[in-house]
Amino acid sequence: MLRLCWCVLVSLAIAWNAGFGDEVAPSSESSPAQRGLWYLLQKQYLARDIHEQDFADIWKVWPKELRQQAELATPADRRAMAFLRYGFVEMPGRSAPMGFVPGADGSWAMNCLACHGGQIEGQPMPGLPNSNFAMQTWAQDMVAYRVQIQHQPRSRFAASLAVPLSRSNGTTNAQIFSVVFTTLRDSDLNMRQAESRHVPKMLHHDLDAPPFWNVKKKRMMYIDGYVEKSHRVIMQFVLLPSNKAETIRGWENDFRDVLAFIESVPSPVYKGRINRPLAERGRIVFEANCSSCHGTYGVNGRYPEKTVPIDEIETDRRRLDGMPLAHREFFKQGWMGEEGEVSVVDHPIGYVAPPLDGIWASAPYLHNGSVPTLWHLLHPNERPRIWKRTSQGFDHQRIGLEVTEMESIPAEVDSADERRAFFDASLPGKSAAGHDFPEALSEDERLMVLEYLKSL
Ligand code: HEC
Ligand code: HEC
Repeated sequence: MLRLCWCVLVSLAIAWNAGFGDEVAPSSESSPAQRGLWYLLQKQYLARDIHEQDFADIWKVWPKELRQQAELATPADRRAMAFLRYGFVEMPGRSAPMGFVPGADGSWAMNCLACHGGQIEGQPMPGLPNSNFAMQTWAQDMVAYRVQIQHQPRSRFAASLAVPLSRSNGTTNAQIFSVVFTTLRDSDLNMRQAESRHVPKMLHHDLDAPPFWNVKKKRMMYIDGYVEKSHRVIMQFVLLPSNKAETIRGWENDFRDVLAFIESVPSPVYKGRINRPLAERGRIVFEANCSSCHGTYGVNGRYPEKTVPIDEIETDRRRLDGMPLAHREFFKQGWMGEEGEVSVVDHPIGYVAPPLDGIWASAPYLHNGSVPTLWHLLHPNERPRIWKRTSQGFDHQRIGLEVTEMESIPAEVDSADERRAFFDASLPGKSAAGHDFPEALSEDERLMVLEYLKSL
């Protein structure tokens, strides 16, 4: 743990000292993890989204009321409004948000940290999921900006909105993006001719990005554990059609380092008050009721990486049903699957119980991000049908997002943009049901376990 903390702190210090904009590559003395973080912060792998100057003007396409407020605001306040609207994370000393890599020409290109870089208690943290990212709103506004302000033809950007990106802020349709990207390529990553593309039926579903600090404990990745951990498999997001096959393959060593970085991220430590005697009683309850799936923690901790059949876990099954067999098979042979070296589970039966290290920091919970706090996770019958969070509020009582719960979305909310600020667990793929194991505990025991979970 100590070594891991040190490693990340040093690499963060390097990145921050370099001012998050200076193109100073890490030296040959840098560790793979340091280089990996540098790539995530400094190297553009995807097509550029927007120029810094245009970002300063993007308010011009906002809905009327917001636009009027922005017009009267100072440039700094407008930037803050834009960060709030898109769920972007500020990084000190750098103009681009975390998750966007600035180029020398002032352009910004999205990367992994758009979903995998968040903030907790005001501190940016690469590897913590961004539970605010409003991907759909961001993409729509960018397209509107190019069409309305820059007068470019809408047809040029049709692809960016062809697939739903996100139906609620903080979660994304990420696996389906990958299904689409892999459909477009052959097993050597060359783009297929249109007639040899077989587009599967798509079951769209939003997912909550998992925290990077758990990856080191896993052999298989993703919530259904369908594919072995590999630096090539984590390159799915750079398969965007604008990247050529040989360019992607040429980035292989970068992604060895990116994986080393991912595996070096330490889980954050809860800084609030923990009632230690209560947490200790919670540990005993946890070990009797939860450890068979989630493992044990501390010295000699052990993680079983256990897959729980869907009929036993009973959480939302759309993620399991939504991934076509052809997509899993894409990783069996060819370049991404290291020519058959990467093991793939063709027919996963359920979801893998994740490690619970740093669980206090990675709300919302369950793979679809449907449960706002640990208290709700421990009280299956009290999970809200609809909830809306405050932008950064942390609930220290229930541990997780500070939310307002409701039975229906208020009538005055009429635009799709605004609706995405509400998590509606009645929508397809968004069910908050299942994982009823805490029902076996008394109320007192649940509170003990909650206290224990803060200490992981
Ligand atoms: C649009 C949001 C998004 C972007 C961008 C993104 N990811 Fe992810 N990532 C996710 C989601 C959601 C999952 C969970 C998918 C699942 O379990 O099926 C995930 C899972 C992962 C995992 C597996 C974690 C685990 O515990 O099993 C790794 C590793 C990972 N991503 C790395 C990356 C890297 C590297 C990039 C950039 C090349 C990237 N991701 C870009 C959303 C994203
Ligand atoms: C039979 C195996 C099993 C048992 C027993 C079990 N869990 Fe889980 N747990 C899972 C699985 C599988 C998931 C992932 C489900 C999903 O995301 O759909 C999960 C998810 C969670 C999560 C959310 C993780 C995240 O990152 O979103 C928490 C917290 C959790 N469990 C705590 C507990 C506690 C506390 C207990 C004991 C009272 C417990 N679990 C008992 C299998 C189990």
